[in-house]
Amino acid sequence: MQLVTERLILREMVEEDWRSLYAIESDPEIVRYLTKDVRSEDDALQYIQEIRFAAHAEPRTIYDLAITRRDDHARPPAMIGRCGMRRGDAEPREAMIWYVVAPAHHGHGYASEAVRAMLGYAFEEIGLHRVYGDCDPRNPASARVMQKVGMRREAHFIENADIKGEWCDSLIYAMLRREWLAAKVTR
Ligand SMILES: CC(C)(COP(=O)(O)OP(=O)(O)OC[C@H]1O[C@@H](n2cnc3c(N)ncnc32)[C@H](O)[C@@H]1OP(=O)(O)O)[C@@H](O)C(=O)NCCC(=O)NCCS
Repeated sequence: MQLVTERLILREMVEEDWRSLYAIESDPEIVRYLTKDVRSEDDALQYIQEIRFAAHAEPRTIYDLAITRRDDHARPPAMIGRCGMRRGDAEPREAMIWYVVAPAHHGHGYASEAVRAMLGYAFEEIGLHRVYGDCDPRNPASARVMQKVGMRREAHFIENADIKGEWCDSLIYAMLRREWLAAKVTR
């Protein structure tokens, strides 16, 4: 599976992406608000292997694509982040999204562009009903990404998430298929 946007290609991860994953997610600042702690080299390699395995599940429930830049002509183009979603076990017409971008590439709109592509795939290709994401209120860049793509803020949960031993609040943003399609008409 591959999603192509104006500036990005979101592609399936390949084994050698573990180096980029490790470089990005061994940074404590990057993983500060993520459930997962900093990655070791072994952990990065194992994660890529798990994701590659999960990509072949039928039906597929987990998507985690490498974000690459179209103007990177390396083969394969370097992974500058990732954007994924997981469909619910109990409700597979719903999915939770996530996204991470390497610090060197922050502030260029890449996360928003990647999330838009993933939402398009979720609603138009799979036909999902609802996609949601969560973020810590102390992570305004993440909340802004969800606002920019048109997701609605639905909730502010208080200390509902144990993130690395700390009870943290969560903001929930969501979008329905009909909202995506209606917004598309005006885009
Ligand atoms: C969240 C993250 C993916 C954003 O990546 P990005 O490519 O820089 O995102 P975008 O450029 O598409 O959008 C970021 C927006 O947040 C804004 N922003 C950045 N830092 C901010 C801050 N401290 N306060 C308010 N807004 C901020 C940017 O200005 C931009 O909004 P704008 O286009 O209206 O100016 C990146 O910061 C990241 O990887 N963080 C660590 C992982 C993470 O927290 N992931 C989300 C888990 S919920």
